[in-house]
Amino acid sequence: FNILQFQEDLLQWYYANKRDLPWRKSQDPYRVWVSEIMLQQTKVDTVIPYYYRFMEKFPTVYDLAEADEQDVLKAWEGLGYYSRARNLQSAVREVVATYDGKVPDTPEELGELKGVGPYTKGAILSIAYNQPEPAVDGNVMRVFSRVLKIEDDIAQAKTRKLMEEYVREVISKEDPSSFNQAIMDLGATICTPKSPGCMLCPIAEHCKAYEEGIQEQLPVKKKA
Ligand code: ADE
Repeated sequence: FNILQFQEDLLQWYYANKRDLPWRKSQDPYRVWVSEIMLQQTKVDTVIPYYYRFMEKFPTVYDLAEADEQDVLKAWEGLGYYSRARNLQSAVREVVATYDGKVPDTPEELGELKGVGPYTKGAILSIAYNQPEPAVDGNVMRVFSRVLKIEDDIAQAKTRKLMEEYVREVISKEDPSSFNQAIMDLGATICTPKSPGCMLCPIAEHCKAYEEGIQEQLPVKKKA
């Protein structure tokens, strides 16, 4: 497995084909944070109009911190999983109170914030702060289970930790922000759960599952 070639093929593809998404227009950590929370249980196409409206209403951490909870929940109406909105506002208030309004840029500080789990933490550190940190969600696990032929059950917490270790090894140190977003785009558009588009895949030649023709058997997900 040639890591440098893998990174280059992935990044070249991403630079030429990245999706034009509203939260990609800035690296403002607050914007990245809001988008990643919205995207956790909701699809990109659904999130886009909510994201625009939310940012218009609450353009900075200060606006969100000072808002009435009811107004925040109203802006979230239709997205569901309302604890996401409550935790976000609570964490943003913490950022204003404790960090003078600056979203922390360390895993330790971010991990203490309400609603910021390993995925969101890694997404903020990599996408906004360009740190080589893994941001592993279900889509990312699907891609890496195939590329590296990882047959562990992705329903198990320890498998995500294992994936994070692999991502740490292969993530681009030059452009970790684009690397993680490239994996997300690949998982959404090509390395899909069913009938993945391996013929169009920029990293097929690095993919262990493709080499063996077992891409549709991965990832392994056992029922509880
Ligand atoms: N899914 C989760 N985070 C994403 C992002 N930053 N861009 C596109 N899809 C995503």
